[in-house]
Amino acid sequence: MDTKTLMEWSTRYHTPNYGRSPILLVRGEGTRVWDSDGREYLDFTTGIAVTALGHCHPVVTGAIREAAATLLHVSNIFHTAPQIHLAKMLVEHSFADRVFFCNSGAEANEAALKLARKYGKEKLATDRYEIVATHNSFHGRTLATVTATGQPKYQHGFEPLMPGFKHVPYNDLRAMERAVDNRTAAILVEPIQGEGGVHVPADDYLPGLRKLCDESGALLIFDEIQTGMGRTGKLWGYEHSGVEPDVMTLAKALANGVPIGAMLCREEAASVLTAGSHGSTFGGTPFVCSVALATLTTMVGEKLPERAARLGRELMDGLRAIQSGNPVIKDVRGRGFLIGIELAKPAAPLMDACRDNGLLVLTAGEKVLRLAPPLVTEPAQITRALAILKDVLAKAG
Ligand SMILES: Cc1ncc(COP(=O)(O)O)c(C=O)c1O
Repeated sequence: MDTKTLMEWSTRYHTPNYGRSPILLVRGEGTRVWDSDGREYLDFTTGIAVTALGHCHPVVTGAIREAAATLLHVSNIFHTAPQIHLAKMLVEHSFADRVFFCNSGAEANEAALKLARKYGKEKLATDRYEIVATHNSFHGRTLATVTATGQPKYQHGFEPLMPGFKHVPYNDLRAMERAVDNRTAAILVEPIQGEGGVHVPADDYLPGLRKLCDESGALLIFDEIQTGMGRTGKLWGYEHSGVEPDVMTLAKALANGVPIGAMLCREEAASVLTAGSHGSTFGGTPFVCSVALATLTTMVGEKLPERAARLGRELMDGLRAIQSGNPVIKDVRGRGFLIGIELAKPAAPLMDACRDNGLLVLTAGEKVLRLAPPLVTEPAQITRALAILKDVLAKAG
């Protein structure tokens, strides 16, 4: 089928809720993808922080083949070895004691929010159900997670939103102190706001939230759906802060592109999820857990978070060098391979210009270009990406 016809069918048959780039991608390998006209691109989007090991990593592809030929799906009313091994590995590599598996980031956050409500009611007081989240956050598209998301543009038209949510400015401890009260069941934040513009909080912010939760009894939930799995230069984004959450949500890179979500928590919190209180048909199939195990084992074994920290610094240094001669760039920020370039003008046309020059990048909010390359990106590919960005940004200046 020719590309033009497929594009027409896309316009005709899909619900119109995505703004898509006018290219049709057909193949990927490592940091590179190809479109239907054979054009090659450097993919610094990784499916929005998903394919951390790059496209079609041989270990992941091998795990997919083997798992698909062994046991694709059974219900959670049975035990399966891959799910047990994955839960054990996640616990051994994090603060958590227990893991619940689901299929997406929104669903992982739903699990965390339901857990917080049940925990609040059963362990604290019957009217402790409120969640305090932050402005500019992103937590998903289900009704509860879009309510938690502190951006009206995602909520518009879906009102009435769910009761029991408050929002305060991100990176503002005083505002959070004022918001937390005897109704609060949990604080929900991203360790770095990704979609909202790649905002890295001050060093005392996450420790301050930890202290607030310790004092009030509320749970501290870190949404690590974007910052987790090595993206920020450590396996988990919270490791930069010196404190740990009570609950952490994961998805995106956990199985390198095969859909999965996970909610990790401490024993005390997990205890309210009694048998039958929550569940998911597809959550943690032997198939996806085998792929996630292969992904996590590769990531840890090959020290990919450390690599992202090192090469992320190089990328950021290169961007700052470009910034010094270019007034269009207002700020370069981020950690590891989650980088935001704040511009003095809308980012979307520059994202398009990068694509036309062979580099796929993301936006984050109206005026931020977001880079999220695979953790396996080669130094030469970073040099190439910097050259394209320099050129595109110079023309925008
Ligand atoms: C921090 C964060 N939380 C939650 C989500 C929602 O994840 P999903 O699209 O898998 O539901 C995202 C997706 O971009 C995210 O970045």
